Amino acid sequence: MRDRVMTVMVAGTETSASALAWTFHYLAAHPYTQQQLHTEVDTVLCGRIPTVADLPKLDVTRRVFTEVLRLRPPGWMTTRVTTTSTRLAGLTIPRRATVVVSPYVLHHDPSSFPDPERFDPDRWLPHNAQHVPRGAMIPFGAGTRKCIGDTLAMTEAALAIAHITSHWQLSSHPGHQVKAALRMTLGVGPLPMRPTPRRPLAP
Ligand code: HEM
Repeated sequence: MRDRVMTVMVAGTETSASALAWTFHYLAAHPYTQQQLHTEVDTVLCGRIPTVADLPKLDVTRRVFTEVLRLRPPGWMTTRVTTTSTRLAGLTIPRRATVVVSPYVLHHDPSSFPDPERFDPDRWLPHNAQHVPRGAMIPFGAGTRKCIGDTLAMTEAALAIAHITSHWQLSSHPGHQVKAALRMTLGVGPLPMRPTPRRPLAP
């Protein structure tokens, strides 16, 4: 029981925290996108705390977070062990071999995502997203061992982003260079930022 609780705690905290940190970094680096987000949250929320009922209307929020999961997937690498010898992409893989699968590499394949290093939430507009090949976007893994927290992660992230950007304008710290921190997750490293209140702070 302890191990199960630890798995959910570890798998469900560092991943979401890394993705949110990257989101704040990309918003600060893309003022136009941050402006679009402000317009959305101001229209939908009018300063109140977001709830799950607001999610269908938080379209920019969802696209921004999806694009962050593409560019900087916290689960950048996962593994599978073959149960039988097989051939894959012209290679013979023996039984019990560990195969490394990298969502990061797949998400940066230019044949799936043109100009892959460019941060572009519009990739996830329906008429663009329909051209993304099946299996090209797997921030939560795939198959029977796929992340069990994917819906919770998308929900909590959208609510956090909407609430934070409703109240704060995010700017990067002048002169600070963001460096990826590659561990079990793809973290953002130290991220000093300048938050400016967008509405009067509660007394
Ligand atoms: C942005 C947030 C998250 C990302 C990017 C993420 C990503 C992943 C990835 C890539 C895997 C491996 C899947 C595979 O090998 O195919 C995984 C597994 C897992 N995730 Fe998440 N995850 C996130 C949030 C969460 C949350 C919120 C929870 C639970 C509260 C959670 C619980 C788990 C568990 C328990 C596993 C292991 C599943 C298994 O081995 O059967 N994750 N996650």
